[in-house]
Amino acid sequence: MSTVTMPDSKTGVHSVRGPMLDMARCVESRADIAGVLRYHEDGLLVLEDGRIVYSGPFSIEKVPSRTEQDVLHFPGKLIVPGFIDTHVHYPQAEMIGAYGEQLLDWLNQYAFPTERRYADIEYARKMAGFFVEELLRNGTTTALVFCTVHPESVDALFEKAESYQMRMIAGKVLMDQNAPDYLLDTASSGYEQSKALIQKWHKRNRLLYAITPRFAPTSTAEQLAAAGRLKREFPDVYVHTHLSENRAEIDWVKELFPGHDGYLDVYHHHGLTGTRSVFAHCVHLREPEWKCLHESESVIAFCPTSNLFLGSGLFPLKKSWEEGVRVGMGTDVGAGTSFSMLQTLNEAYKVAQLQNDKLSAFEAFYLATLGGARALSLDNVLGNFDAGKEADFVVLDPGATPLLRKRNETCRDVEQRLFALFTLGDDRCIHSTFVNGQPVYQRDRKVEANV
Ligand code: GUN
Ligand code: ZN
Repeated sequence: MSTVTMPDSKTGVHSVRGPMLDMARCVESRADIAGVLRYHEDGLLVLEDGRIVYSGPFSIEKVPSRTEQDVLHFPGKLIVPGFIDTHVHYPQAEMIGAYGEQLLDWLNQYAFPTERRYADIEYARKMAGFFVEELLRNGTTTALVFCTVHPESVDALFEKAESYQMRMIAGKVLMDQNAPDYLLDTASSGYEQSKALIQKWHKRNRLLYAITPRFAPTSTAEQLAAAGRLKREFPDVYVHTHLSENRAEIDWVKELFPGHDGYLDVYHHHGLTGTRSVFAHCVHLREPEWKCLHESESVIAFCPTSNLFLGSGLFPLKKSWEEGVRVGMGTDVGAGTSFSMLQTLNEAYKVAQLQNDKLSAFEAFYLATLGGARALSLDNVLGNFDAGKEADFVVLDPGATPLLRKRNETCRDVEQRLFALFTLGDDRCIHSTFVNGQPVYQRDRKVEANV
């Protein structure tokens, strides 16, 4: 049982105390990560109107009321910035862990029939609630999310995210070929529906929109051109799609778009690369594609549990550092097998191991927090505890299980404890989650949204 009594979400939280870890700034090189770590054995966060106004060592002088009783104290826990999931599908949560297939058959057998259900707004609302609560239960406070082809599915998700005051990015899937009829839009209906959703949701409270062509095979050139036009009309919206995940997929793109110099060129040609363009997977990129991602300042979402589950391949994380391409972590539920960022980092470590590479505990932590914020061009508002940033944070319980407690007896420092959390931890290690300065999840007691 928790020893902390949370204030009710209407009263709010002003000061939070405990061991605290974040990254001071973004880095260009892996080698610089350990140098930007900030750890306070006894830290303090002071919040005001959903923002951080102080972070640093605990001192009662820094607490606005100077009263200990006003401080939420988490001794023995670890306060960290909220995790950032840079690629996830909310309409696949109910078919996570579907047996036996690789990407293209998996889409036909499992993903498409499931996404059909989201034509029903009531079903979409129910699942949006499940999805958002599952994110929060896992300490994920921001995500870049695929909805379905149905505009109602976007409304359902944004309504739910807004009720928790979350910073969330999402969009309607564009898909006008090579999918079942029941999931197809057209170049013009996809454009019009996306435009209406941008006008309705983009920058409303903390919500942001992503133009979301599913992947090149399911859009005609006409639809990709319309997506590019939309991006030119609304330059600060995101583009979110898949790229070079699976060998058969790459061969198929070659057949469908013979005039292009590879898979990424199909997107680049249509104006879909750029600073706010996020490409999930990128497991099998060619050299010119790395160069194009770098030059266009595009972003990769690394989704290890998905890449292993679908047998897609091993993402070369080291190469992304060498090529100067930003990377964030993605769970890619429901091809990915966990909502937990801890479990996602666990698998990322193994993907690196299989390539003779090492993912350090601090790099893993960076990718899940400030690196993820940077990947989503949100490091000005999210990702660490700098004063002025939005107050999304998680209280981790490093001793959540008997095995973790036993393992911690042999850990010498915060780096080792963090690594143990990634390898052995999961949703059981999320003690509580705060969004916009408010408690939204407590492991032992659910806190209702401000609705
Ligand atoms: N490529 C196109 N659609 C999907 C999807 O839903 N999941 C994954 N993992 N890859 C895709
Ligand atoms: Zn995906």
